[in-house]
Amino acid sequence: MTTHRSFLDWPQPIPFAHRGGAGEHPENTLASFQSAIDAGCDMVECDVHLTTDGELAVIHDHLLDRTTNGTGLVGAHTLAELRELDAGQGQKIPLLEEVFDLVRDRVGLVIETKQNPVPYPGLEEKLAAVLREHGMVEQVNVISFHHRCIRHLKEVAPEIGLGIIDASRPIDAVGMMRAAGADLFSCYFGTLDPEMAEEIRSAQGAVGVWVVDDQLSLLWARACHPDSVFTNRPAEIGPLLN
Ligand code: G3P
Ligand code: CA
Repeated sequence: MTTHRSFLDWPQPIPFAHRGGAGEHPENTLASFQSAIDAGCDMVECDVHLTTDGELAVIHDHLLDRTTNGTGLVGAHTLAELRELDAGQGQKIPLLEEVFDLVRDRVGLVIETKQNPVPYPGLEEKLAAVLREHGMVEQVNVISFHHRCIRHLKEVAPEIGLGIIDASRPIDAVGMMRAAGADLFSCYFGTLDPEMAEEIRSAQGAVGVWVVDDQLSLLWARACHPDSVFTNRPAEIGPLLN
């Protein structure tokens, strides 16, 4: 089992099943995470939102409309309301703790907090609490486009592995990572370059890249030598990373 903390010990990039392997199964569902495990993935990624009753629901968009038969904001619903919905092929929107049960002691889990554009006050404290309560801290890393969320997590739960996500080519990627208290920089493949990857690794950071699903992103990811690669098609892309 792998976590971000061990990325730098691996000789080649580690494939992540992005949203559980969204290209092959309904994204962010237990079926997708199970299939990624069955395909031999070492890591899976999921997205979390906070419900009105303070639970952590696993879904990507802030709106329900694209991936479920519901409508409106995820954050305007209770967990019970969300559980009534079909998230594809009869799958339900998982509670984060259900994903824990599936991946426990099997594969690493990266949790992306979705705080843009709709903020979720209290999400960081809730996430830290469930990670501790379920003994998942060592098996999980948390990432976000919302770097203040990551810095907040660093303050309330410094034992959790943390990463920032970005889709720009910053002047100072290492400074950006350190400002958030993170040790992973995960970027859009088209904004990564070998120089930036080297700068991050030289500062003892890990480099992630997303989403690597086609020939161009695969070629470029290989040229930049990241530590981890997020893909919607782990069974197909994983073997091509070596
Ligand atoms: O891990 C990075 C990636 O998941 C960010 O993009 O929109 O698929 O969550 P998105
Ligand atoms: Ca994500």
